[in-house]
Amino acid sequence: MMRIDRRSFLASGLAAAAVWRPLGSARAESFKTDPFALGVASGSPRTDSVVLWTRLILEDASAAVSADPFAPDPQSVADPIDVEWMVAEDEAFSKPVQSGLVRAVPEFAHSVHVEVKGLQPGRWYFYRFRSGDAESLVGRTKTAAESTDAFRLAFASCQQYEQGFYSAYGDMAGKDLDLVVHLGDYIYERSYGAELVRKHGTGVPSMLYEYRDRYALYKSDPQLQAAHAAFPWLAVWDDHEVINNYANDRAPDAPASTAFIARRRAAYQAWFEHMPVHPSLANGFDALRIYDHHRFGNLLGLTLLDTRQYRSPQLQGAAAGDRPERTMLGPVQEEWLGKTLAGSQAKWNVIAQQTLLSERDTKAGPETGYNLDGWDGYHAARGRLLDAVQSSAVRNPVIIGGDLHAFYAADVKRDFADEKATPIATEFVGGSITSDAPSEKSLATALAENPHLKFASDKHGYAIMRLNDRSTEVDFVGIADRKQQNSPASVFQSFAVADGAAGVNRL
Ligand SMILES: [Fe+2]
Repeated sequence: MMRIDRRSFLASGLAAAAVWRPLGSARAESFKTDPFALGVASGSPRTDSVVLWTRLILEDASAAVSADPFAPDPQSVADPIDVEWMVAEDEAFSKPVQSGLVRAVPEFAHSVHVEVKGLQPGRWYFYRFRSGDAESLVGRTKTAAESTDAFRLAFASCQQYEQGFYSAYGDMAGKDLDLVVHLGDYIYERSYGAELVRKHGTGVPSMLYEYRDRYALYKSDPQLQAAHAAFPWLAVWDDHEVINNYANDRAPDAPASTAFIARRRAAYQAWFEHMPVHPSLANGFDALRIYDHHRFGNLLGLTLLDTRQYRSPQLQGAAAGDRPERTMLGPVQEEWLGKTLAGSQAKWNVIAQQTLLSERDTKAGPETGYNLDGWDGYHAARGRLLDAVQSSAVRNPVIIGGDLHAFYAADVKRDFADEKATPIATEFVGGSITSDAPSEKSLATALAENPHLKFASDKHGYAIMRLNDRSTEVDFVGIADRKQQNSPASVFQSFAVADGAAGVNRL
């Protein structure tokens, strides 16, 4: 049994192994190594359901990645394995709620996605898996409330495994949260950077088994596992889950479209296999709809966007080449977003996307420079998104993002050139969990050149958002040193957004 840096509820849950009652029909299997070494996770919380996840790994994950990268995936020839799942009201499993059997098949890398239905709204549940003589650790999850007056979520992104340890997740796991939102770059396809603290051990993945091995390596981290086991997660991807700076069916470093689409299909399948997402996503990986909307009573409407799969190709050269027909979300998602915002009854409406929505001139002085991989390369598309925010009259829009490896807080303007304009939304970008940050100088330039950017920091960590009836508060949590294991974390800056008044207020 893998022992992780678990919190008290996990420890006492493990102590309850004696009360586990086998259902009798799972095929007995004797495992040489812990098949649950990648941990457990839950996600997609609705008022009456939640998705439980695990992936059985039939050998040590680190051994798998150090093997010959051209060897066939050893699990692809393995048999299906029956897995029992169990949900209880208490961590001791003395009040069982539901249990069942699911077949983990090699076609999906023995991943398990169970949608548990018929649960009570706004309730904590405990869950675990068992197969043969092996048991998983205990996870905790929470359904969405039908009504609530308070909600806490954390958001995180960009966790290059080699560039640092996951101290931020160790800290997050001990917090009082209802949900974690991951905004992309859960894995990185390539190695880069200095002072690497650990190694991928393999090259850039392009085949399905290679992407699987990369996820297995990242998910072998005990602090990441602890954060998954502690809360339900919602996740969207960015580019590094496939390849750097890809756009729809094109990538700067990838060959022709047909070859890239095959690679993207493999990457999308591996993402599905390792995320606590709805089992219905397994229907096909040529395209994968991950944009979605979640409600948490009338307090929070949470809209998750996909800015990678449907976007127009990147501009080559200047932002001036942008044309109105260019898209970031694609027409279908864009129309869906407009309807979703218009239909939301929630007091706070969080739009979770991958990067900084606000304009950011990166060049000092009268010259201008923009990140063409972000919304600044998709000017017209951003305008349409902001039009949808305004025309829908959605209440208290708050944008969250990642990607930049830096924390930002911003007043979102319909026209960023108009310094006097009233903000129409508020934006918070979380720093990276570990990935290399930009220079302090570049952040200072960004703040100087863009008055709507109110704060920036090159620290590593994550953000916590606390919503209630009157305000939303955001804490930026930084870790002292990503190169150290179990580095201490602390809140280094907090903000408030008042009900009915978009804009950043420093606390
Ligand atoms: Fe990143």
